[in-house]
Order: sequence, then structure tokens, then C-alpha cells
Amino acid sequence: MIDCSLWVPANPYYSAYPGLLWVGRVKCNPDYFSLGVKNEREELYDREEELSALENSAHPITTLTGIRRLGKSSLLATGLKRRNALVVDFRGTGPNPSPLFLLNRFEEALNSSGLRNLWEHLSKRVSSITLGPLGVSFAKTKPLTVSFATLFDAINEYAERAGTDFVVAFDEAQEARGYKPLIGAIARSYDYNRRIRFVLAGSQTGLLNDFLSIQDPASPLYGRYVYELALKRFSKQDSLEFLRRGFEACGAEPLNIEEAVQRLDGIVGWLVYYGYMCLNEDADLARVVDSAVNLELKELSKLRGKYYRLILKAVTLGANTWSEIYRYVKANTEVLSDASFNEALGRLVKYSVLEKKDEEYMIPDPITNEAARRL
Ligand SMILES: Nc1ncnc2c1ncn2[C@@H]1O[C@H](COP(=O)(O)OP(=O)(O)OP(=O)(O)O)[C@@H](O)[C@H]1O
Ligand SMILES: [Mg+2]
Repeated sequence: MIDCSLWVPANPYYSAYPGLLWVGRVKCNPDYFSLGVKNEREELYDREEELSALENSAHPITTLTGIRRLGKSSLLATGLKRRNALVVDFRGTGPNPSPLFLLNRFEEALNSSGLRNLWEHLSKRVSSITLGPLGVSFAKTKPLTVSFATLFDAINEYAERAGTDFVVAFDEAQEARGYKPLIGAIARSYDYNRRIRFVLAGSQTGLLNDFLSIQDPASPLYGRYVYELALKRFSKQDSLEFLRRGFEACGAEPLNIEEAVQRLDGIVGWLVYYGYMCLNEDADLARVVDSAVNLELKELSKLRGKYYRLILKAVTLGANTWSEIYRYVKANTEVLSDASFNEALGRLVKYSVLEKKDEEYMIPDPITNEAARRL
């Protein structure tokens, strides 16, 4: 069992005020173990390629995909920080959001961007947008008089006048999948607005791809070019190095990091969680895993389908192929319809809870795997 309480603080801050260790947060420089979305380059470990792609990309549409906790939001926040950009967070809006709900998120992003020149431009250009001291507000009339298409046109005009590109990023873009006109507006902008670049980030890759439907002739985005950035987990070596540097930056001895990486794999969000809890709560690995698993169980409980639980359970018990999983589910259900089973299995892949490779299914996140065991 890893015991973080064994670490010896090399930082005088701790030895001088040992009591403070548990009152305030342990101070680290750089703070690799901060829990929120990061937006400082020096606090982000590695990810050079992805950052450079976001910082310099001139592609009309980029997708940024990866399972939960891999650092997508941090990459958006850091990589787009120095560009003319808006990051609109769609988390929690789906699956069938009203346009008003989505536009509210857009309005929030505009106002927190602090881009006053853009506020002014929008309020002059779109009659139903008014300018106030803290930003813009969209008229919430029925029917709505502000649309994504109008916003993209106005932003393009602003960018053209400023002589720069403008990036509109949607985090957890797949959440808007029930609102197809957004895809229409992006396609239209792709065709006519030379200065707008879109970045669409999502942790549920299958749903995001369905939403864009680049391969579907009926989709407005059919045949459009999309630059794909698929975020990978850290290698074992990078995970170890990340933990080592993270502890050292807090003046702490990196203890038993091998075991931590074995349990948490290269998923940076869990590694950060481990480092944070070790340093601030004196937690051991078992407690960190338990706490992370409880978080994940809450996420899994949001899956409402009939066979999800059994399918995941089957995979944790070693069933990997379609027929092995099917057999387990059939043995544990009264009536099993093949169509609903296939639908449930396919959905879990689209949600990225399961991964399918060479006809075999696996749970890509070790914490989700542990949580599924406890279902
Ligand atoms: N390269 C990195 N170096 C250090 N910490 C990182 C890095 N990438 C992400 N983190 C940290 O990992 C955690 C998860 O990051 P983030 O929220 O950006 O991931 P995400 O992929 O958007 O997760 P989710 O899918 O749950 O939204 C945060 O604590 C963040 O600070
Ligand atoms: Mg995120």
C-alpha cells in the first residue's frame, strides 16, 4: 500500500509550518497537480504536438477527441489562450438541448472572454444583441432572433476587419447533437467564412462523429475536411516522469509511483487526482482509487439502458468478444432481444465507455473498469 504520509518535505514552507500542510493547499511550482482545467503552459506536462496544433492550426475544422480525464479542456484553454478564440462549454446541455440553452452558453463564453471589441462589433452588427458594461446579451424572444449562423457571420466579419483568424471551440460538442442546425451553421461557415476556424472537442468520440456525419451524404458537413487530433494517454514512462516531477515540484519525495501508474495507467486526470490527494489528504493509493471509483460510479449510474450494467460486468469478468458478452448477458436476463443488445453494446462504444479493437471489447479506463466491477 502506498503511504504518502511517508514523504519528506524538502520545502521549508512545510517544515516551518507543518500544521499548515493540512489547512491550506500544498504549494507546488509548477502546479502539475492542480485539479481544475489548466490554462498555464508551464503546468501542462508534455502535449507539445497537440498544443502546437491548436496554437497554429489554420484548418477550418479540427476535432479533439479522447476518453474522459485526458486533458482535452486543458488543451483547449491553454492552446487557444493566445489566439482570438472563444471556448464554449456544452457540457451538461445534451442530448436534446434547446437553441436557447446553447446560445446561453455561447453568450457566457463571449462575456467571459473579455473581448470588448468583439462585443461592440456584435452589438452593432446584430440588432438583437445589446451591449452592457459586463458584456453582451442576446434577446431571448420567441422565436429566437439570434442564430449560430448569424453569430458566425458576424464573428467572421470582425476577424476579417482585424486581419486575423478567429477560433470558435465547442467543448463536449457532442452534447449538442440533438440540435442539427448547429451543424448546418458550421457547414455554411466552412463554405463562406474564411476567417473562422472550428475546434470540436468531445469525450464521446462515437457520438461526436455521428453528429458531424462527415461520411453521410445527407449531412451538411458531408465531404468537408476535418483535421483530427486524437488525444492519447501518457506512456508508462511519461506517467512516471509526470508523477516524479509533480511531487518534486511540491517539494515532496515521489513514493511508490510505479504502483500508482500500474493502477491508474496514463490517464493524466487520475494521476493528478492521486498526486493531489497524496499531498493534501495524506491518502494512500487504495483510498485514492476508491474515491475515484466512487466518482465514476456516479457517472455510470447516469447510463439508463437495460443491458449496460450486464455488458460492463461481463467485460470486467473477462468476456471480450461479441459472443462471450452476449452469452453472459443472456444467462443473466430473462428475455434478451438481439437488437436491444446490439444497440446497448454499440452505444457503450459511442459513449467511449467501451473500446472495440479487432473485434474485442475492453474498458479503456482502469477506474471505470474497477467501477464496473462493483456495479
Ligand atoms: N498535460 C497535463 N499536465 C498536467 N495536468 C493535466 C494535463 N492535462 C490535464 N491535466 C489535469 O488533468 C485533469 C483533467 O483535465 P481536463 O479537465 O482538461 O480533461 P478532460 O479531458 O477535459 O476531462 P473530461 O473528459 O472529464 O472533461 C485536470 O486536473 C487537469 O488539470
Ligand atoms: Mg473536459
